[in-house]
Amino acid sequence: MQRRSFLKTSAMAGSAFLFSRKLPSATTASDDALIEIMLDEPLGTISPLIYSHFTEELGAVIYDGVWVGENSKIANTGGIRTALIEKMRQIKAPAVRWPGGCFADSYDWRDGVGPKDKRPRRTDFWVDDPDSKGLPKKGLPSYDPNQFGTDEFVRFCKLSGAEPYLAANVRSLNAYAFDQWVEYCNSPAGSTTWADVRAASGSPEPYNVQYWGVGNESWGCGGNFTPEEYASEYRRYQSWLPKYGVDLKLVASGPNQDDVDWTTRFFENIFTADRRIKPPFGWSMHYYTDLPEALKFTAEDVYPGYELADRMEKIMLDHWTAMGVYDRNHRVKLVVDEYGPWYRFSDTRLDPTHVLGQQLTVRDAVMTALTLDTFNRHPEKVGIAACAQLINCIDSLFLSHEEHFITTPVFHVFDMYKGHQGAQAVRVQFSVPDISFPRKAIRKQLSSTGDEAVVGGPDARLWGLNGSASVNGKVLTLTVVNPHLTEGRPTRIMLRGDASAASAETEVLGGGDVHEHNTFDQPNAVATKTSTASVSGKVVQFTLPPSSVTRLTITLS
Ligand code: AHR
Repeated sequence: MQRRSFLKTSAMAGSAFLFSRKLPSATTASDDALIEIMLDEPLGTISPLIYSHFTEELGAVIYDGVWVGENSKIANTGGIRTALIEKMRQIKAPAVRWPGGCFADSYDWRDGVGPKDKRPRRTDFWVDDPDSKGLPKKGLPSYDPNQFGTDEFVRFCKLSGAEPYLAANVRSLNAYAFDQWVEYCNSPAGSTTWADVRAASGSPEPYNVQYWGVGNESWGCGGNFTPEEYASEYRRYQSWLPKYGVDLKLVASGPNQDDVDWTTRFFENIFTADRRIKPPFGWSMHYYTDLPEALKFTAEDVYPGYELADRMEKIMLDHWTAMGVYDRNHRVKLVVDEYGPWYRFSDTRLDPTHVLGQQLTVRDAVMTALTLDTFNRHPEKVGIAACAQLINCIDSLFLSHEEHFITTPVFHVFDMYKGHQGAQAVRVQFSVPDISFPRKAIRKQLSSTGDEAVVGGPDARLWGLNGSASVNGKVLTLTVVNPHLTEGRPTRIMLRGDASAASAETEVLGGGDVHEHNTFDQPNAVATKTSTASVSGKVVQFTLPPSSVTRLTITLS
């Protein structure tokens, strides 16, 4: 995507100026924004799997979030929270990853199958996390009762209409255990002892699980391997697995954010001619936007946060380029199976059991939306993406505790963006003034007046609008983020190509205070608003509110 900027220079660049205590001093031109949709420039089909989710055996993600138990007074379907299933169906959740995350490399799947009363209790990977301090010394969430295992997870996926994506333990189990997990899931009814165990749990027919991660973060919690050591493990784990007619798609454990060295050395190893092996389907990549404050952030923290979330595009492109050096035909796809804003140093969780839990505001919805737009703009590169995590952890769509269950602003983004799933992405050009804002790092207290000033250095700049577009039959879906904290953007949307607009419906999230969020007491403080945009031939006009995510559904004629 190319962007043109009307503002070539900032009036404030390089100068000292007083810093507003309320809002960052953002400058924009007053020109209307122009968005051109190039209907004749297709980019590829957006895999529905880009809209997938991640659930780890961590804090209250599984127990309380997904699993409440068959005997719970909370409405459940065979132990799974019914309200969650309904919302998963609403957003057309395509796949769910489980059981981790770091937990995956300390998990023995055999502990979680067979009669529930015979399943062992085990120490959870997260027992010593600072967030677990003060939690009970026995029971959840530090000790895993294994009441939720493979059968329960696959049932959750089926009820949700999603594909299961399992992550195998490479750090502490051997390749044979992986073979057997595939056997448990996929061997035909009556064919193996594991198939009989599965049948005794109520599932004679195989699960036909297609997506399998080979370890998780193998550079860190997944074994502290070097890329060469991990490549050697990967070779062993992939060299034989029972297929049972299923086209198994393996995902190798890729880099932490921009660690291109990890990518290069793994690809060099497995693509070298004399030791060449079948490349994996996917290359996992994790990128979290690390920020300090989930709720008590100031206005001047917002744009730098968006800049950080926006780094996703460069990180993806850097890995893609490194992969292409060895994988000339780009057979391996990026699998961004952990992403989202993460506030490691502020505790806003709704219950102490929510290890790595946090509140989610409109700001988080904007960051998640701009990440999904990034994926949409690179459909040929991204095979799967999974937001971390689904419920009660990091960038959650849902928050729950016992009978309480609410959606977050992030949920609305997934609901608004579902029209992109499986659609044809097309190129979009944004011609919009940049936002210019002062760098927080160079603020100083003026000793004479006590006011704050920004001294020296250029202002930072952020694009004025960004987004993505896709076409499915006669329906054009355009999603746009307006990051400006105070200014709406009157916007002209031009359809370039052989089609006009018959009508345009809009749905908007945000438009008010970017701190807004839902709570158990006020579950609908953040909701979306629908309206229509004005349409004339090839032109659609709409004002994109400040701090907002907007979806336009344009019917083409
Ligand atoms: O999502 C929380 C943790 O973040 C995951 O377990 C791990 O893979 C990552 O470091």
